Formats: sequence, C-alpha cells, structure tokens
Amino acid sequence: MESRKIVEESEQFLATTTRDLPLVLDRGEGVWLYDVDGNKYLDFTSGIGVNNLGWPSHPEVIRVAEAQMNKLAHAMGNDFYNLPQLELAKRLVQLTPGDFPKKVFFSNSGTEAVEASLKLVRQYDPKRKYLIAFLGSFHGRTYGSLSLTASKPVQKYLLGPTLPGVIHVPYPNPFRNPWHIDGYEDPEGLTEAVLEYLESWIFSSLVDPEEVAGIVFEPIQGEGGYVVPPKGFFRKLERVARDNGIALIDDEVQMGMGRTGKMFAIENFDSTPDVITMAKALGGGLYPIGATVFRKELDFKKKGMHSNTFGGNAVACAVGVKTLEIVKELLPKVNEVGKVFRDELSLMKVDDVRGMGLAWGIEFVKGEKKDPDTKTRDKVIEGVFKKGLLVLPAGKSSIRVIPPLIISEEEAKLGLSVLREVVNSLR
Ligand SMILES: Cc1ncc(COP(=O)(O)O)c(C=O)c1O
Repeated sequence: MESRKIVEESEQFLATTTRDLPLVLDRGEGVWLYDVDGNKYLDFTSGIGVNNLGWPSHPEVIRVAEAQMNKLAHAMGNDFYNLPQLELAKRLVQLTPGDFPKKVFFSNSGTEAVEASLKLVRQYDPKRKYLIAFLGSFHGRTYGSLSLTASKPVQKYLLGPTLPGVIHVPYPNPFRNPWHIDGYEDPEGLTEAVLEYLESWIFSSLVDPEEVAGIVFEPIQGEGGYVVPPKGFFRKLERVARDNGIALIDDEVQMGMGRTGKMFAIENFDSTPDVITMAKALGGGLYPIGATVFRKELDFKKKGMHSNTFGGNAVACAVGVKTLEIVKELLPKVNEVGKVFRDELSLMKVDDVRGMGLAWGIEFVKGEKKDPDTKTRDKVIEGVFKKGLLVLPAGKSSIRVIPPLIISEEEAKLGLSVLREVVNSLR
C-alpha cells in the first residue's frame, strides 16, 4: 500500500497523538530510513533517542536478540529470576555515577521508570510527600510522571489538576531565563537565582524542605527544547538536596546511553544523583525497556509494593547489556563527530545553538523579547523533510538535531548541509 493511502486509513483507525509529517516508515539501515514509496531519509532523530545504534539496530545487538529470543523472551522477571536481567542490573549499577550500593527495577518505558522513582522516594520517608520538578520538563504521560511534566499545557489539556504535591520551579535556561540574566556569560548568576528561588521562596513560604521527598530533573531538557543548564548547576542543586535530606532523581530517559558523549548526561555536570531513570536507547532500538537505578537503602519496603508483568524480559535485558557495551566503545567518536555538529550549526542563521556530544538544539525566535518563531521552525522541519532529512521539533520553537551515535563525519556533513541550505533560505 502506498504512503498516501496508509496515512489516510491510519487517521481513521489510530488515536490522535503527535504525528505531523506524512511519513510511512518501511525499513531502516544504519542512519538511513526508507518509506513505503521507496524514498530515502537521513535520520537526525534517532527515533526520538531510541535508535542510538542506528536502524534497525547494531548487527551484534540483533544477533544477541535473536539468540535470546530462541531461548526465552518473557521471563516473569519480577516473579522469578533470569541471568540476562541480573547481568544488566550489575552493569547498570557499575556504570551509573555513585560509588555506593544500588539496586535496579526494570520496566518497559520511560514513564514507568519515572513512576517507579516517585514511589521509591515517597515511601522511603512517609513525612516527605512533596516533589520538586522543573518548568519546561518532560517526564512522561502516565499520571505521576505527567504531574511532573511541564513543557507544554497541551500535555495536560482538559485533565484538570494532576498529582497534588508537585511544585514546579524555573529551570536554569541560559537562553530564556525569567530573571533576564542574559546569555551564557553569567551562568553562575542564573544557577544562584534558581537556587535562591527554591531555598528562599519555596522552602520558606510554601513547603518545609523536610516534607520534600525528591527533586526530579532532566540533565538537559529534551522535549522542552534541548536546554543545557549552566555547568555548576547540578553540583549546587545536589548540595541543597543533601543539606535537606532530599533525594535527587535524574531522568536520563532521553539524554542517557551515550547521547551527550558520556554514558549518562549527568556525568558532564559532576554530580551524583540518588535515583537514575532510563529507557529509550537502552533497548538498542529493538526492545522496549525501562530501568530505575537507585541507592540500595531506598528499596521498596514491602514485597508487592511495586512490580509489573513485562519488566526483566530476557531479550530486552540481553539487548541492554550488548547495547551498553557498544555505546561505551562509541563514546570517543560521539565527541569527535559532535564537534562537526557544533561547528556547522554555529554557522547557520539560527538564534541559539546548544548541546554537547550528539545532543544538539537550535532555536528560532523573533524580536528583542525572543518570542518563539514556531512558524519558521516548522517550515525548516518540512523543508528538510522534502529534501530527505528527518529532524524533530522540541519546545515551542526549537529543533533537536540528534543523529544515531554511529553516524560518520561524511553523513553528518551531508545532513548538516541540507539543514543549512533550508535554514538560510528561510532567514
Ligand atoms: C526525559 C524523558 N523522560 C521520560 C520520558 C517518557 O518516556 P516514554 O515515552 O518511554 O514513556 C521521555 C520521553 O520522551 C523523556 O524524554
């Protein structure tokens, strides 16, 4: 069936979600995607951060998946035991920051990994029921994670109040910060402004810090616009959390697994969270998986407080182990090719370029007040699509530029030249 017909029928049978472009995917090969009409696209989306190893996946990951699939896939991982699950848990404990005993809970998606983190920190100390989250954040779409999410009002449209006890504070966004401390020149001033807001306003007029269970953050905001906070922010946030006995929850669902040139993005900020959530790329582009890695003492107090059906799937976990191994080998290359992205993006007629490794955001604004130029952003996405390059939006007027980590310098330059041509023709 041709693209047009599939799109038409899909609109009849599939729920309304976030689809924009009429792209009907058929197959993928490395950094290239093909639609059912035979058109070829260079991928700068990594399947929203899932296909860090390319399409459909790295050949070694496919081999591991096939071998495990022929033995056992669903393994009742929360009711019985299996070796791939143990191996992946041990690997994650070893690779995540923090030289202290940790444990792992497995699930199937990012939102579930976040839900588990909320349960962990709220049951740990019953007098701590509040959670701090950041404006501009995205943590998922089930009720707990949705309550933390604050990147667009439409995400909660007509749902009314979500989970009580979530307090949102501004994220230190150097390009648009509510205190108008402009640009990257004074990053520490911005960090201090956010922390002062938290300590001197929230903690002194709204909620006692002893009632706060956790501070949940993205090390770089993804859906919110690929926003990179000042270098020292998380170190200082950690001090506030430690001084007040509050757990730090680092959501690495989008930025983890090598995207920023380190295995986990928080490693770029020299800070150690108590809980880390991950999903997306951990499944190598093949299998859904979520994982919540946490300080051992935060473990669920009673058997049965938390569990699920599919967590600890033996194929997903075997794939996870292999994926981590390959991502680790790719990290030097991510940083090398990342420089090509930084250099080339900086030459384009865009209003802001930010990122690290292979996690880049470009933003389009209008006027002195930096009003979001959503129209131009959308035209760029459509324009490059017509020329065979896939990119995704983020925030109100940004584009995320996130190719698979296996991309070569040549392929990077090819895609970037298409992007530059379209951006420059529109401005
Ligand atoms: C930072 C972050 N957390 C959580 C999620 C939710 O993940 P999922 O869509 O797998 O539920 C996302 C999804 O984009 C994300 O970017």
